[in-house]
Amino acid sequence: MAVPRTDVLHDFVCISNRLPVDRVLDADGVPEWRTSPGGLVTAMEPVMRENGGVWLGWPGVPDETFDPFTEGGIDLVPVTLSAQDIEEFYEGFSNDTIWPLYHDVIASPAYHREWWISYQRVNQRFAETAAAIAAPEATVWVHDYQLQLVPRILRSLRPDLTIGFFNHIPFPAYGLFSQLPWRKQIINGVLGADVIGFQRPADAGNFQRSVRRLMGYETKSARIMEPQSDGTFRQILAKSFPISIDSAGFEELARRPDVQARAAEIRQQLGEHKTIMLGVDRLDYTKGIRHRLKAFSELLCEGRLTVENATLVQVASPSRERVETYRLLRDEIELTVGRLNGDYGTIADTAVHYLHHGYPREEMAALYLAADIMLVTALRDGMNLVAKEYVATRFDRRGVLILSEFAGASDELKQALLVNPHDIEGLKDTVMQAVTMSVSEQERRMRYLRKRVALHDVARWSRSFLSALDEFPALRQPAPTDPEDVQRYE
Ligand code: G6P
Repeated sequence: MAVPRTDVLHDFVCISNRLPVDRVLDADGVPEWRTSPGGLVTAMEPVMRENGGVWLGWPGVPDETFDPFTEGGIDLVPVTLSAQDIEEFYEGFSNDTIWPLYHDVIASPAYHREWWISYQRVNQRFAETAAAIAAPEATVWVHDYQLQLVPRILRSLRPDLTIGFFNHIPFPAYGLFSQLPWRKQIINGVLGADVIGFQRPADAGNFQRSVRRLMGYETKSARIMEPQSDGTFRQILAKSFPISIDSAGFEELARRPDVQARAAEIRQQLGEHKTIMLGVDRLDYTKGIRHRLKAFSELLCEGRLTVENATLVQVASPSRERVETYRLLRDEIELTVGRLNGDYGTIADTAVHYLHHGYPREEMAALYLAADIMLVTALRDGMNLVAKEYVATRFDRRGVLILSEFAGASDELKQALLVNPHDIEGLKDTVMQAVTMSVSEQERRMRYLRKRVALHDVARWSRSFLSALDEFPALRQPAPTDPEDVQRYE
């Protein structure tokens, strides 16, 4: 296992299951570091570049040990996962138990005791590594559902630390969460943090309800009162901090002449006169890719759209490919795309351009610029940063965002065309509304959306979370009696 530098202690430590870069082999078989998939990395990368500190996580390959290194200006400390850890902790408990459970059981969660044992073991390893490299009274920010036990273990190893936890995915209603055989241990693990962040107020509410029902603790608005052995209460703040992107960075990218030239090239290759619809997702059953394809295929079948006047580009980046549910989903999507293209495509026109790859940010920005309609039809999604990336890129104020009301982003992006993706007729009508939307209406909506995304960027998100954590020593004291003090955190 990698031995982190214990000679260098850090005042700020970020921990997530994945490092922002994965170890991969390039076309010639030479190993290199490549940007990791997912919203967590998109959001935290600019934060870490700006704030400094060290990022601790898994480098994406089994059994390989790497010394700490710096990549893209960020100090990284790799944590080794064995092939067995990957199978039981990562693919098993994290992505076949917690992920489906927290996404409203869209797929059935599997409960296996050996996966739980592995989850505890790996969380212990992450916590011990962080404890070894954190300076006295450092701040440690733990991320996401793979590491819910880390805050409590870390608190017991290093009571001097200030600990934050942010859950990037939804937190389910108690009626679902209570299925989990280890529900109390998970809640107790998270409660080791001083400040606990969620995407939506509803997620924070669900968490608090679970705390009350399972632990019997009192909650006062955003504060949770954890009884201590000496009769006092430790206070924990649990509230929503909606995550975002580096909006200015995306706009800058979109304004680059090479990116605009690439966007023009994409448009020209797909057909200048066509309505270009775009979906960009990890290939995950939470994203509603099937629903989107169903709506598109019915529109073609009914002749409301034709392959001569519309095309759908679906980027589906490979994800968790050894987990059975993901394997089945891939087969289903690829069968559907094949049928659709077979039924409606012509020599000249393809109905769906299906791309099973991840792409660099430049290419994504060009695709966003080329697309008339962005389809985000998630059945459940913590936030969905693709929606915000599309908006940030469209400095020309053109384009229409269709956004699922089950994605956290819909709390903020109200001028998008909001849809219930389960309602296929409604989704079809919304697609047609987007296809026929006037330029002035597009601009009116985009102006509002862009203002929101520019103002509420990722720097603001991290500032608000970290300043809550910073102010926390006040909360560590016994419960405040001064009403003003109480109100500050409500
Ligand atoms: C989501 C999760 C992240 C995860 C990412 C990619 O964004 O919130 O924690 O890293 O998906 O998934 P993966 O399983 O490839 O890490």
